[in-house]
Amino acid sequence: MSVERGRASTAGGVVAAIETSCDETAVAVMDGPMRLLASRVWSQVASHAPYGGVVPEMASRQHGEVLPGLVRETLADAGVDLQQIDAVAATMGPGLPTALLVGAAYGKGLALGLKRPFIGVNHMEGHLLSPFFGSPSVPAHVAMVVSGGHTLLVDVRGVGDYQILGTTLDDAAGEAFDKVAKLLGLGYPGGVEIDRMARDGDAARFDFPRSMLHSGDLDFSFSGLKTAVRVLLEKTPNAGVADVCASFQEAAVDVLVGKTLIAARQTGHKLIALSGGVSSNRRLQAVLNERAANDGLELRIASPELRTDNAAMIAYVAALYYVIGRRSKMDEDVEPTFQRRKFEQITQMERHSC
Ligand code: KG4
Ligand code: ZN
Repeated sequence: MSVERGRASTAGGVVAAIETSCDETAVAVMDGPMRLLASRVWSQVASHAPYGGVVPEMASRQHGEVLPGLVRETLADAGVDLQQIDAVAATMGPGLPTALLVGAAYGKGLALGLKRPFIGVNHMEGHLLSPFFGSPSVPAHVAMVVSGGHTLLVDVRGVGDYQILGTTLDDAAGEAFDKVAKLLGLGYPGGVEIDRMARDGDAARFDFPRSMLHSGDLDFSFSGLKTAVRVLLEKTPNAGVADVCASFQEAAVDVLVGKTLIAARQTGHKLIALSGGVSSNRRLQAVLNERAANDGLELRIASPELRTDNAAMIAYVAALYYVIGRRSKMDEDVEPTFQRRKFEQITQMERHSC
């Protein structure tokens, strides 16, 4: 991250942000959108791994246990004491309801106690803007957000000005990786394992479907691809794991890249940004990089520590909003499901000081 670290100058407004939407408890402190002071992520992934997925009740209990200490430690890293905080931010959704409640309640409590404004942040907006982390503004571009829970292709005109061009009709991209990994008996989270196994595999061995690549719209569907892998494994139990991983990955990447390039052509944007957990996939990065360059497009990828869930991306969005004076109402509730229309109208949403 090419962001200046150091002690708070309070020039841009010190924002403390909390992220508890899924199985990472995270806290970050920024001094304006250009200056990260500290960021800590406490991953619960090892506790959920034996269950092959996130156990919501366990996630929220751990958030509650870890959060107070993590806030103290992150503020100490930042060299900021409580009174130096100008605003408190927290992820309001999408995510697991009870997990979101822990961070949102803590954030609001802290804001009320300190008599500072509260800024509720949409988790997907955090991922969406993460490739521009540390910039004072965000240029117009096409964004591909590929996470464990969501797949979004977005026309970004500026901060808070978004139009969703396409989304998944069933499984999210990361979910497809995780489910296929489970079928293959690989570990959780499966995306990383598939990426690793695919390196030694033959991507042309199995011709898996490129669902909706030529559907004429910009939506995605990954459940057919997952089913094709399942059917293959039922018929051919000894199909090499590496070849299955590579062929599955190639099909998923083909569709993700194909649609992103169509979106760039349709919008006329010359810049593409890639974010979310799946953006770490090496084949996705390589293919998108090559094909974007062929089309004369620039590509920005979120830096590694910002791809999976973290609070720095939440602090960044909040810091951008703090600068332009936008605040959330204290009675704003968490929103576990992704609300497409609301996301597209973030700029128009009424925001008040507390
Ligand atoms: O963005 P993220 O941390 O969580 C959500 O907010 O959903 O993304 C996690 C997802 C998981 O599905 C994981 O399997 C996937 O990102 N992932 C990958 C890779 N690294 C993480 N998928 C494919 N290739 C990777 N290298
Ligand atoms: Zn996420």
